Amino acid sequence: MRLRQGKFSMRNLLLQFENEQCPVWIGARCDDEIVFRLRELKASSYHFVVDRTVAQLHGRALFDRLAAEEPARLWIADGGESAKSIAAVERLAREMVHAGIDRRGAIVAVGGGVIGNLAGLTAALLFRGVRLVHVPTTLIAAADSVASLKQAVNLPYGKNLLGCYHAPAAVLIDLNYLRTLPANQVRSGMNEIIKNALTVATENIQLLDDMLNADARYSDTEFMAIIEGGLLAKHKVMILDKYERKQALVFEYGHTVGHAIELAANGRVPHGEAVGLGMIVAAEAACRLGLLSSTELELHHRLLTRNGLVVRLPMGVTVTAVMAYLRTDNKRGYVSARPDEVAMILLRGLGVPNGPVERPLTVVESSLVQSCIETRLTEIANVVY
Ligand SMILES: NC(=O)c1ccc[n+]([C@@H]2O[C@H](COP(=O)([O-])OP(=O)(O)OC[C@H]3O[C@@H](n4cnc5c(N)ncnc54)[C@H](O)[C@@H]3O)[C@@H](O)[C@H]2O)c1
Repeated sequence: MRLRQGKFSMRNLLLQFENEQCPVWIGARCDDEIVFRLRELKASSYHFVVDRTVAQLHGRALFDRLAAEEPARLWIADGGESAKSIAAVERLAREMVHAGIDRRGAIVAVGGGVIGNLAGLTAALLFRGVRLVHVPTTLIAAADSVASLKQAVNLPYGKNLLGCYHAPAAVLIDLNYLRTLPANQVRSGMNEIIKNALTVATENIQLLDDMLNADARYSDTEFMAIIEGGLLAKHKVMILDKYERKQALVFEYGHTVGHAIELAANGRVPHGEAVGLGMIVAAEAACRLGLLSSTELELHHRLLTRNGLVVRLPMGVTVTAVMAYLRTDNKRGYVSARPDEVAMILLRGLGVPNGPVERPLTVVESSLVQSCIETRLTEIANVVY
């Protein structure tokens, strides 16, 4: 397939992770150009990784277009959080090696953050690193998780406990793929974008305040602005901290309690929804510690509820279970904390993480976190602004 210069329609951004760079291309209804950009990699073979849902909706069609011109294989993995396992990584790696992938091969993750992580860790480990291309199909993946070197799978004890770092070679985003997402998945992604605005890119707060709607209906222009805003927020910090161990830890805002809720809900709650609840708890804790004002706490509520967040623990999730999973948080060890304390990201103003610039963590008593969960997340009525 040949694309003439005039037919290029995807916008281009360059993400920088310290000394590493990754081009991002964004467009709408642009599978021709995605195939063209994949072929530009001149890989010896292309290994698409998809889950069943995405295979049916978009992945197989994109694969067929590439496979008509290049050696390519389609690998269908289980979807869902429970699919992020080292067993799944090993299975994929074995099948790819059996199918003849070599060091010049490329792994193409077509899907959400789960497939991105699964394919990402496989790409990082195979031959100690083959090229990884993300074709994100969820909003979380497009606006957030692709702009990261972190590739990880879960252990039964906690999320993302087994992983390493591997930079994507390219990110190719077709906004049209997001059109088949259920509304709860769009809202889930939007919570991560709200997080990036509250913590890093406060200039996006007004845009979100004007645009957010609980029906999760957005035009291509709005999606483009949202995704670019999310990616540029990541870029702003990751250019200084590619391993997300220093100032980029701020992107873990809402994730301490969020991951615990996700685990306690056993995969029934979308990642971003759990992070939204985690941000409410973090903001309440910061407010009680005198770090955030009540107006800033209300802003958290307003943005998240405008995005349709129901501010209470999901059905079947108990405070006790959330507190038990908090003890497995993967930020343990960054700072010393007693067993009855939790290290988490708190803000002391919009866009201002509390703590040292290079380690923005606050050690909080578990009893305070528990009390914040009980106050904010066990209310019967939702607060609507
Ligand atoms: N730095 C990082 O690596 C990073 C950052 C943020 C999140 N994450 C990870 O990402 C994961 C969450 O990602 P997610 O929310 O994208 O979840 P996901 O990958 O599980 O996708 C959510 C659901 O949407 C379906 N789906 C995907 N694309 C679709 C489409 N276009 N139309 C219809 N359905 C579609 C999937 O089949 C799945 O059922 C978590 O595991 C989280 O830990 C990683």
